[in-house]
Amino acid sequence: MTISIKSSSEINAMRISGALASEVLDFITPHVKPGVTTDHLNKLCHDFMVNEQKTVPAPLNYCPPGYKPFPKSICTSVNHQICHGIPSDKILKSGDIINIDITVIKDGFHGDTSRMFFVGSPSIAARRLVDTTYEALWCGIREVEPGKTLGDIGYAIQKFTESEGFSIVKEFCGHGIGKNFHEPPQVLHYGTPKTGQILIPGMTFTIEPMVNAGKPNVRELSDGWTIVTKDKSLSAQWEHTILVTETGYEILTVSEGSPDFNKQSK
Ligand code: MF3
Ligand code: CO
Ligand code: CO
Repeated sequence: MTISIKSSSEINAMRISGALASEVLDFITPHVKPGVTTDHLNKLCHDFMVNEQKTVPAPLNYCPPGYKPFPKSICTSVNHQICHGIPSDKILKSGDIINIDITVIKDGFHGDTSRMFFVGSPSIAARRLVDTTYEALWCGIREVEPGKTLGDIGYAIQKFTESEGFSIVKEFCGHGIGKNFHEPPQVLHYGTPKTGQILIPGMTFTIEPMVNAGKPNVRELSDGWTIVTKDKSLSAQWEHTILVTETGYEILTVSEGSPDFNKQSK
């Protein structure tokens, strides 16, 4: 597969699917509180997507080569879970941090975004990890403009994150997105300036840094999906779907409730 450059009508479709994905996160926000299970959050999101938005939850039965079908409609990754957490009967408690990752399909196009949530009140350490990871995402977004490279994005994210004493997960990355959930290019969250793919207007890809409080090493659980930190340290992730424009970037996964509503493009 080669990198697809989206036409203006495809970009419009991506704006719609991106906003819808972000709106699922807005919808679920008031429900993320102590005492609820991640399965309950999954059911609420599933019903909202299917019945209200008329979108397709892309994770449900998603089955890349070498995997078994993902059994739920959203990913919920709690505390030391890095990504791809499967909703379950696990009850959230005050002090937990959780990443909720939403991917919807509307009219054949995907929108993919995730945010971190505090369940009840967070520790100072958890708040610093979550805030630093959000800033790391923005270090990447600010690099996006024609002529810059994927290496510039990865370098900016890695340099900032490591300067804060945290580590970048290397095994998972952002990705091109459009008619496919995951398409070229791979968007690494580490790298070397002025190397790798040059950014071209019309490219759409995600940036989704995973940041560990401890060591970068990962482990996959026996469920075949959930990725956790090997040292059981806390991990955080934020994700946006981004369009490369003539002048810089446009964030496609924004909605009224997203922290980036007022800074969507450059
Ligand atoms: N949404 C994830 C990403 O950002 C992928 C989840 S795949 C799933 O790329 F099958 F676990 F849902
Ligand atoms: Co993604
Ligand atoms: Co995602």
